[in-house]
Formats: sequence, C-alpha cells, structure tokens
Amino acid sequence: MREAPERIQRLPEQYFTALLARVAAAAAADGEPLVDLGRGNPEVGPPPHVVEALAESAARPDVHGYAPFAGLPALKEAIAARYADVYGVELDPTREVAVLPGTKTGLMEFALCAVERGGTIVLPDPGYPDYFSAVALAGAAVASFSGFDMPGDGMYLNFPTNPTASAAADGVFDEAVEWARRNAAWVMHDFAYGDLVFDGRRPRSFLAADGSRDVGIELFSMSKSYGMAGWRLGFALGNAELVRRIETLQDHAFAGIFRPVQEAGIAALTGPQTSVEERRATYERRRDCALEALPGLETRSEGTFFVWFRLPDGVTVERILAEQRVALAPGEGFGARGAGWARLSLAVGDETLERGLERLRGAFH
Ligand SMILES: Cc1ncc(COP(=O)(O)O)c(C=O)c1O
Repeated sequence: MREAPERIQRLPEQYFTALLARVAAAAAADGEPLVDLGRGNPEVGPPPHVVEALAESAARPDVHGYAPFAGLPALKEAIAARYADVYGVELDPTREVAVLPGTKTGLMEFALCAVERGGTIVLPDPGYPDYFSAVALAGAAVASFSGFDMPGDGMYLNFPTNPTASAAADGVFDEAVEWARRNAAWVMHDFAYGDLVFDGRRPRSFLAADGSRDVGIELFSMSKSYGMAGWRLGFALGNAELVRRIETLQDHAFAGIFRPVQEAGIAALTGPQTSVEERRATYERRRDCALEALPGLETRSEGTFFVWFRLPDGVTVERILAEQRVALAPGEGFGARGAGWARLSLAVGDETLERGLERLRGAFH
C-alpha cells in the first residue's frame, strides 16, 4: 500500500480521541465507577422550543433536499441581530457572515483560507489542540504566542480560553488588530465560550474592537451557548474577504447544512434567551463549588465551563485516574506550557461534579 500523503501524515494525534480512549480503558478496569471530568461536552441540550422547531421542520416534505450551500439568509440575519443585541456589533449578514457546520470546521478553514503554505501561525500555548491540526493541514508552521512583538502571518486567539478559562484582558483585541496591521497578517478569534463569563463580566466580542473586521474573523458556536454541540452549527463573522473565501471552500467541500438544523438555529437565536443565562449561571455556581473544593491550589476560572489548576507536586492526572478514578484533561495536552496543570470540566451534572470533587479532596490532602 502507498503511504498516506504528507498532509495527512503531518496531522498530530487527535488529542480528544486519545484522551477518550484512555478514559474508556480506565472505566473498563475494575474499581469504583469512574467520574469523568475530562471532557468538555455540554450536559444539557437546547431549550424545548429549539427541539420543537427542528422536529416541525423535519416533518415537512420540502426540507430534505440540498439546502442552499451558503446557508439560509434568515439564519445569517438572526446571528447578525444577536451580535447587535448582545455584543454591540453591527454586521452585514450578506457579506460578513458564513454559516459553518460547527466552528471546529472553521478552525481548519481559517488556516486554509488565510495563510499560504510555509507561513507562520501564532497559537496560544496552552491552547485548544485542534489549532495545531489546522496549522498542520495548511502546511504552515506553529509559533507559540509570546507577545505581540513576534512576527507571523496568522494568529489564533481564544477568549474565554480553553483550557485556561481566562477572559479577555482589557486592550488585548486592540493589540491583536495592531499586530495584524503591522504584519499584514490575519487574526481569528475563537469565541466558542463567548457567553460563558463569570463574576459580572460582560461577553466581549473581538469584532467590537476598532478595525477588527479589516484584519480578521470571529467564530461563534451554537454548541456551548445553546447546548447544541451535536447539531454542528456555527458561524464565521467579520472580514468579508475571509468570509467569501470560507464560503468558496465550503461550496467545494460541503453541500450546505440540513435545513431543519438551520431553522432550529434561527429559533434558538431569535427566541427566548433565558436558557443562555441559566447555563452561564449554572457553570458559575459549579465553578464556585470546585474552587471551594480545591483550596490551596493555584486555580483559574473567569469563564468557559472549565477550571484550570496547578497540580500539587508529585500528583499527575494519570495517578488521579488510577487512584481516585477521576478523569481530568492533562495540561500538557494543550501545549508545552500546560505541563503541571490540569483542566477540570464543569459540564457534568451536579451530582457527578460533587462526587468527583469529593474524590479530588482525597487526592490533594
Ligand atoms: C476552544 C474551542 N473552540 C472550538 C470548539 C469547537 O466547537 P464546535 O462545536 O462549534 O465545533 C471547541 C469545542 O469544544 C472549543 O473548546
């Protein structure tokens, strides 16, 4: 058999596939039932009116053919209206919005559409592992972010950050815009956890920064704000040229998104928004429980549904998995600078979290 093409070979091991396999193997071993706080998979689905919109749409005879490749105009208008209401950002739905089959796809598309092979893409470290995959797919080189004085052709930003759970600091988006201008580079802001911020913070869109849409896009996901991770629906918003390139790529690689999913997306974006705040408040409450259970540890959690914490000396996530039977995501999986840290997920039921925290107390005292 011939070898796989180089572009496939250079993809890193898919971090989450490997993590899930390790946790499944541990779960199958004898002992107490495992508590999985390793995964970031929303535990509560969308509100009922969204599911009803999907079912009603799917029951119609005229929705089963190919949907328009570029997405429903009404869906683009719905996300643009939400951006105006929630983030104070005015967008042209026809030119500045692309509909994506989930923002994970958009992470790959940004690298492919923005940076030439051999270029350099600056990534957060620690950061979301799929960014490394995107850079590899585009045949570009990774540079770990060490400040806005470094050169590069593209940059990934992510606030609130997975895995470090940090909210955007004042001025960071303005600095990113300046950086892009100086380097004639593109910026992508991954806003997957945008609405999940704590302690009275307001959600901050990159696109609210002056000049941002001259230099970049933001990816908005339906997965976390609305509990629709399995539905695969998201958006690329901002720079019209990048939006056009992404739509061109999608015209070749995909054939639109199932119309009932898009119509339910419209229902989610334009209907009652109480579930978004309920979800945010639930994670904040769980965050407080987790911080209380981990006294004396260095912890971060300003947003997302994660707590990022430094492991006590001599403690590893492997040991916690084997001895306490609690799965955590090991920090080094998110980049070299994550070594010695771990990510705990709050996207589990209260009882599961309580059980996991109780066991962790045992590990750290
Ligand atoms: C930082 C970050 N970006 C992007 C994604 C992908 O989200 P989506 O479900 O929209 O593909 C995730 C999902 O976990 C994430 O954590």
